[in-house]
Amino acid sequence: MPVPLADICHSSDPATRAGCFKLAAALIAALLPRLSPGRARLLLGNTGTHYDETAAELEGYSRALWGVVPLLAGHRAETSGVDAALIAQIECAWRDGLINGTDPAHAEYWGAVRDRDQRMVEMCAIGFALTKLPGVFWEPLTSQQRENVARWLGDINGREMPRTNWRWFRVMANIGLRTVGASTYSAEVLYADLDFMDTFHVERGWNADGPVEEGVKQMDYYSASFALQFAPLLYVCDEVAQRDDAARCQRFRKRAAQFAEDFVCWFDDAGRAVPFGRSMTYRFAMVAYWPALAYAGLTDAAAKPLNNAGVTKGIWARNIRWFIGQRGVLRDDGTFSIGYTYENLFLTENYNSPGSPYWAFLALLPLALPSTHAWWRSEEKALPSSELPSIKALKPPGHIAIRHGGNHAYVLSAGQQPAYRMRHGAQKYCKLAYSSAFGYSVPTGASGDEQHALDSTFALSDDGGETFKVPRQLRSAHLDEARGCLTSSWMPWPGVLVETWLVAPAPSSLAWHVRAHRVTVTDAAAKTTVPAALLISDGSFAVSDRAQQGEKRRLEQRDQVGADSIYTSSSTAFVASHKGAVGIRDITLGSASESDKQRTQGVVVPVDASSNIIAPRTSVACLQKTLARAPGARHILVSAVFAMVPRDDTVGLSTDEIRKAWEVDVEVPKWLEEALSA
Ligand SMILES: *[C@@H]1O[C@H](CO)[C@@H](O)[C@H](O)[C@H]1NC(C)=O
Repeated sequence: MPVPLADICHSSDPATRAGCFKLAAALIAALLPRLSPGRARLLLGNTGTHYDETAAELEGYSRALWGVVPLLAGHRAETSGVDAALIAQIECAWRDGLINGTDPAHAEYWGAVRDRDQRMVEMCAIGFALTKLPGVFWEPLTSQQRENVARWLGDINGREMPRTNWRWFRVMANIGLRTVGASTYSAEVLYADLDFMDTFHVERGWNADGPVEEGVKQMDYYSASFALQFAPLLYVCDEVAQRDDAARCQRFRKRAAQFAEDFVCWFDDAGRAVPFGRSMTYRFAMVAYWPALAYAGLTDAAAKPLNNAGVTKGIWARNIRWFIGQRGVLRDDGTFSIGYTYENLFLTENYNSPGSPYWAFLALLPLALPSTHAWWRSEEKALPSSELPSIKALKPPGHIAIRHGGNHAYVLSAGQQPAYRMRHGAQKYCKLAYSSAFGYSVPTGASGDEQHALDSTFALSDDGGETFKVPRQLRSAHLDEARGCLTSSWMPWPGVLVETWLVAPAPSSLAWHVRAHRVTVTDAAAKTTVPAALLISDGSFAVSDRAQQGEKRRLEQRDQVGADSIYTSSSTAFVASHKGAVGIRDITLGSASESDKQRTQGVVVPVDASSNIIAPRTSVACLQKTLARAPGARHILVSAVFAMVPRDDTVGLSTDEIRKAWEVDVEVPKWLEEALSA
């Protein structure tokens, strides 16, 4: 009986060259039966996207190329351990697909690219295939077939493109066309795109997903592994670029090497990345930057301790292993589900087709590295957490990154903004904190706090908790590096101003951070638009809670908190499971009026199923209270927010560990007291 593909994936270690080939071959083999008769389309499911079905099926075909091309390139160069017949089958299938998909007379023709078309994204991988393997994807083609490929791909040069990372897809298409000497290559468009994307750079290697001067404040995994570091690292490997565009290549190399120091803050020592922003279903594409750095020969250029192939390979390998090990990433037939750790459409984008998750294959680039490369020769090393800062301000993305003992990486966040009305954009970019262990949650509906999934969020309701407002666009955001504080403000309704101070933990108690919220109601607004009362809610991370609350020990005393328990009082909420402990405590002090010090209620909200991207059942510890409407009123809530992650989540946290961290008196810094009463 053949071994199920999913089992092969689980038993192949990506850290060795042979294991990585075995894993990639299994993942790609799982796609073969799902290719269309002409091989130009991949059919993996029935869910929809905003673009047409042909583009969706092309997407499946083309994204797989990010694994197919390095696999074929590496196998051609030296022995890989993968069965030669399987390699031949893969090679034929993806070549046939290219031939048929670009043939206007064929039933599976992909159709001419239109303005701002999904086909543009998919052209990137095809450009890469032509660049890396002309011997497979160009030379064997007849002159008519070559003409079809060149015309279909070259059409991108006459089309309108979004002013985002998409421009890299056209660059990659043009590099492919240039490599094979196609007449549809446009140097003019290529250099215009590259010059345009220079306006995305902020500092320290960070690029926004659009021109900085136009106010784009979106810096996520597209700024890193998905595009804006990954693609430049491929670009600098191109010989013509090295010769004709040397200064830019040098700039890209420098930025890429510098970026490592900040980017590492988004990873914990279990290999988990901090989920942040959109397109989380691309999964281990999150780590594609690390092998791309090696591919461009830049591992040594990064700062200590990241100038080591064993260290960077470790970040990459543990992330892939972690994803493959999550129940629900792979279906039984070895294909990817749509979701993050489990099948979940709530968190996906309007553009995630069933083939979309195969962008994960960006991380399979090391297959193209020779066995003599340091990437394969080095032993995988643990993340040297003790050599990395436990608190670091990342100015460009507006983050304060915290590494709590290595097994928990999280960020406090303020100032990002989704560039358009994307699905759950507010939750993906504007929560107050994001965590490698707890992820983030998105709403499943619009009735009540359970469906709104208000983890790491300060939210307000003017209808008694039926619907909640959360920020999507801030009025202001500022990082005070000296104090370790992010301030921001927004207006849920005209005349209601919300200001928030997010304060980094004290180095001695990394489980705790402080948030202060000040809500000001202006007189004019109070008279007209503001309702009689406002319900506010401040929430911790969402902790996985398999039993949810039914079987938990409900505690009577605050100092009894411990493993697998729940505690709420007028000023506190706490909940712990085998996956971690979260809590929140009202520490509002003198700056608040008497009424602000009362009537807070701690609640543990059993959030709607499948709202969290990591765990299908979660609970959030919240402080909630109702603010009386009073013209000119100012209300203050200062919360101390708690989070702890077990070193081993099959064992969980011990009551002793939890209590030791929980029984810290978290203080409101003097300067914050002053700022709040100013
Ligand atoms: C797809 O392309 C190949 C190569 O041109 C061809 O041999 C094959 O028959 C095509 N498949 C279909 C279903 O047309």
